[in-house]
Amino acid sequence: MTETLENKSTYAIRHAKVLEWVDEVARLCKPDRVRWCDGSKEEYDELCNLLVEKGTFIRLNPEKRPNSFACFSDPSDVARVEDRTFICSRRKEDAGPTNNWVDPKEMKQTLDRLMDGAMAGRTMYVIPFSMGPIGSPMAQIGIEITDSEYVVVNMHIMTRVGKRVMDVLGPDGEFVKCLHSVGAPLKPGQPDSKWPTNPTTKYIVHYPEERSIVSYGSGYGGNALLGKKCFALRIASAMAREEGWLAEHMLILGVENPQGKKTYVAAAFPSACGKTNFAMLIPPKEMEGWKVTTVGDDIAWIKPGEDGRLYAINPEYGYFGVAPGTNEKTNPNAMRTISRNTIFTNVAITEDGDVWWEGMTKEPPKNLINWKGQKHDPSSGQPAAHPNARFTAPASQCPSIDPEWENPNGVPIGAFIFGGRRSTTIPLIYQAHNWNYGVYLAATMGSEMTAAAFGEIGKVRRDPFAMLPFCGYHMGDYFNHWLQFGRDIPNPPRIFGVNWFRKDEQGNFIWPGFGENMRVLRWVVEKISGQTNAVESPIGWMPSYDDIDWRGLDFSREDFDRLMSIDREQWKQELLAHAELFERMYDRLPKEFIFMRELLLSSLWRSPEKWSLEPER
Ligand code: OXD
Ligand code: MN
Repeated sequence: MTETLENKSTYAIRHAKVLEWVDEVARLCKPDRVRWCDGSKEEYDELCNLLVEKGTFIRLNPEKRPNSFACFSDPSDVARVEDRTFICSRRKEDAGPTNNWVDPKEMKQTLDRLMDGAMAGRTMYVIPFSMGPIGSPMAQIGIEITDSEYVVVNMHIMTRVGKRVMDVLGPDGEFVKCLHSVGAPLKPGQPDSKWPTNPTTKYIVHYPEERSIVSYGSGYGGNALLGKKCFALRIASAMAREEGWLAEHMLILGVENPQGKKTYVAAAFPSACGKTNFAMLIPPKEMEGWKVTTVGDDIAWIKPGEDGRLYAINPEYGYFGVAPGTNEKTNPNAMRTISRNTIFTNVAITEDGDVWWEGMTKEPPKNLINWKGQKHDPSSGQPAAHPNARFTAPASQCPSIDPEWENPNGVPIGAFIFGGRRSTTIPLIYQAHNWNYGVYLAATMGSEMTAAAFGEIGKVRRDPFAMLPFCGYHMGDYFNHWLQFGRDIPNPPRIFGVNWFRKDEQGNFIWPGFGENMRVLRWVVEKISGQTNAVESPIGWMPSYDDIDWRGLDFSREDFDRLMSIDREQWKQELLAHAELFERMYDRLPKEFIFMRELLLSSLWRSPEKWSLEPER
């Protein structure tokens, strides 16, 4: 450690490897000072005040949003950067065809060069954090080093941080190294910008064998809060494969029936498919006695328990949710959750010091400040909030939080649900015949693009298990891991496919979605406990119209049939697209998938041109 460097810790650090690493990083990045985060409320408040002083944070009106802040990012730093995200496994083949790869030796040289002096003029924060309840046998510990106060305060909400984590880590516990710099060193006397970032150079790098992460140049979301996508998905998925568990891009919710019986369900949807809304769903009032509780909205870590069942924890401690579209109708629980103690990024600000975004109310309030910090001009056609504007809020504030959400041993999973955004082809709900076919269903799921960033709008992007941007190793190996995982447990959870987004000929959504999805959830949980019926379709088991609880919703048989019908030609196209996906990963594709595709094709071949629940017999 350089003589002049102030290295401030209010608690004793006994872990030699941690000390050594922090020292090494400080020498390289050359910050003005080092500060060990203790995770206290005082620390959180102090750093929020500092961010207000720097002009990064705007304190919101305490009467409207107590203890909450808004901030605007640099317009060049507004989302995850998938094209700058790398899985640097030792061998290129192990990263697979869906990940960017650079030889780790070469990448380390590049990053060492960039990190040299990267923190000049700044404070280097050391954040010990736990993914999962502290001390849980399913939790993992990471240490994030960052030069961003914004990251520290967001990590306080999104993970469990501080001294108590170091206590559990002890003198020699395993931890994941997470190094982050915004890549904006300051010369002596140079004023800081409100959102420091490197506008031209960004790297989000994972070394799966070493279990470490280095992120450079961005201060936003998943690029910078390294516990989330980088650790809890990319690195954890590689750990999980080695150790026989699953790290998944899944929400976890509990469904309680009127008799008080609880079934937990884990569900995977690609980004921008309403995961947070589904995780916090409020059932229609006519379905009296049914209740949904929230364990997690984005990530699940799943392990087999001694009883042969699968148990899941939410490794996170907060929600980093997309704000636009969230309102009293789409997600009242989220609206309560973000009513206080929340950080808003890239939303619009109202005259009276509150927040607003597209979809919060029909009409925008007058005199908004937009996410670029300018007076909003409603005639400009530009949104006031950035489409990827976010809230960071403590999970404990969610009114539907499940009483078991911090159970160190997790909650037992009864079913998996996989879904994408598809305007045609995929029915509202169907059940795979068995585990292998369920894995196939999840591996071939796709979603129509809603943001041009990832390709042509409306085109289907195959997103296996909603893990395409988050799998830390070869996707073919990932499929094999799932297949093997199911073979090793006596009675694996049942697997379902859903699609809330099917449209009619006029382009309108047929299914109302949101709270009404409870009707589908009820069928799922009753199906797995043998309390309801199903019909066999060419692609799996399905509820008939009479198997769904329609109380309080006027939904016709015809409309249900339009949601559930299977169009042979569309499915043939679908299977061609599966073949395209499989070709990309042919070297490690499970052979089961080839046969399963054939079986699907043959069952479609035998079915009518338009297979329907209500055939005109
Ligand atoms: C997210 C995502 O932010 O999946 O959760 O992109
Ligand atoms: Mn996500």
